[in-house]
Amino acid sequence: MEDRLKNIEVELQNFVSDTKDSLEAFRLRFISKKGQIAQLFEEFKQMSGEEKKKVGKALNELKRSAESKFKELQEQLDSQGYGSNVDIDLSLPPVTDAIGNLHPLNLTRYKIIQIFERLGFNVSDGPEIEDDWHNFSALNFPDNHPAREMQDTFFIEKNPDMLLRTHTSNVQIRLMQKQKPPIRSIMPGRVYRNEAISARAHCFFHQVEGLYVDKNVSFADLKQTLYHFAKEMYGKDIKIRFRPSFFPFTEPSAEIDISCLICQGDGCAVCKHSGWVEIAGSGMVHPNVLKNCGIDPEEYTGFAFGMGIERVTQLRYRVNDLRLYSENDIRFLKQFKPVI
Ligand code: PHE
Repeated sequence: MEDRLKNIEVELQNFVSDTKDSLEAFRLRFISKKGQIAQLFEEFKQMSGEEKKKVGKALNELKRSAESKFKELQEQLDSQGYGSNVDIDLSLPPVTDAIGNLHPLNLTRYKIIQIFERLGFNVSDGPEIEDDWHNFSALNFPDNHPAREMQDTFFIEKNPDMLLRTHTSNVQIRLMQKQKPPIRSIMPGRVYRNEAISARAHCFFHQVEGLYVDKNVSFADLKQTLYHFAKEMYGKDIKIRFRPSFFPFTEPSAEIDISCLICQGDGCAVCKHSGWVEIAGSGMVHPNVLKNCGIDPEEYTGFAFGMGIERVTQLRYRVNDLRLYSENDIRFLKQFKPVI
């Protein structure tokens, strides 16, 4: 009897099972009422008291050992997923991975980059956490300019001032410090302003600014470049107009409107019933800005412009609420096909 107990113990410990069928074979062989261990218990009943004393404990241990081995094999099989002989219904439709799509702001960003790359602009990047000089002072903002006030700018530290950039013009400054003209570059990126969140404003948004500095760059170059951009982005029937404006870092400055694509110029809420929508600010780089970056304004001139990607996207896809871009609502996001 004792030898048989040992043999069964060895046999069951070495049992390998990787399918439901072999697990069932294990159960039948060792654990079921007709299995080997039950058989031994039958024999045990017939034994004399003396003999029972000898094997009783070992027999109970064997029983427990078989049960825990069975549990172990069962868990192994469960963790592997299906055993090889599980019924698979081949007529079921396949489980496919949902293919995502690009965010509408990225679709627009790529399209803007593509248009300017064809005109010979490269793409530059810079920090979102910026010092006062690159975000304001170098751009000819006077010390008391309202944009520096707490209600407009998120300051991270005061004295010396560190802030979340309010526009990507900081990259223009960094570029001009680093590289001598000719410079022809666009700067897409995220910018931050301390504004109450509504359908028309958010505390962050995305910009693409552009800079072209070389000998003899004129306002005509600026106009033609942005005309070209608007036609490439919105089609050749788009109308564009330049309105005089003011920025500390450009002189002269102009705001650029395009004819409203939502109402075709008839007047609607998006264009505030004017038929025109502002898409960009622009102007000739102020001589002080060139000087601040070590570029001689007598030798070089340049133009700069900046547009909001959200606004360009709104007119492209007719999105009326800015908040939708950052809510991560899949029902909104999956509507955008990559028409780059
Ligand atoms: N930096 C300006 C802004 O954030 C945009 C701009 C860029 C205007 C370049 C003119 C020239 O609003």
